Amino acid sequence: MIKKAMDFAERIFAGDGSGHDFDHTLRVYRMALRIAEEEGADLDIVALAALLHDVDDRKLSPETCEGKKRAVGFLQENGVNSDTIERIVQVISEISFSEGRGIPSTLEGMCVQDADRLDAIGAIGIARAFAFGGSRDRRMHDPKGLDKTSTIQHFYDKLLLLKDRMNTETGKRLAAQRDAYLREFLEEFYAEWDGKR
Ligand code: ADP
Ligand code: NI
Repeated sequence: MIKKAMDFAERIFAGDGSGHDFDHTLRVYRMALRIAEEEGADLDIVALAALLHDVDDRKLSPETCEGKKRAVGFLQENGVNSDTIERIVQVISEISFSEGRGIPSTLEGMCVQDADRLDAIGAIGIARAFAFGGSRDRRMHDPKGLDKTSTIQHFYDKLLLLKDRMNTETGKRLAAQRDAYLREFLEEFYAEWDGKR
């Protein structure tokens, strides 16, 4: 089942440029399982929800986003019982609130949401942010702070806030390390920008 969900997600993300590529899905899957093991969550629900968490993403698939139709279709076709499908869809629906509104109502949801957020910070998060900005021809940084679409601005709008929005103890611990790395990166970035280092 896990292997099938991986293949399904890989096919959906082939050629996607929205920052929701298959590599992101695999990282979230690995991290969600690690958190779930430490937190004692249901590993099957977490694994499938992580693998399917972005297949109905609003940016990628606005027409299926509301009912998570791709995820549901995949699970039904593979004979997953309706109870389990409901639990998985609940996890996916609750984590995809962008920007941290809404705390997931289940431990499994908390694990997958934490894993998804961790992927936006640390070294990977920095790389994703600049890849995203580059794909939209955005400026890396505006020292005057007027360009609100610059990638550095995104650190302040979102990335630096994520550490305080983690749900699980494991997630909080990992986020603290990654957040420190973000702050170090910014300090070095500004120093190099100004020709100081
Ligand atoms: P999610 O759906 O998980 O909340 P998003 O779709 O908002 O994530 O973002 C996907 C990735 O693209 C993340 O790594 C995020 O930091 C990055 N990203 C989103 N918006 C911007 C932006 N304006 N500038 C730079 N990176 C961005
Ligand atoms: Ni995601």
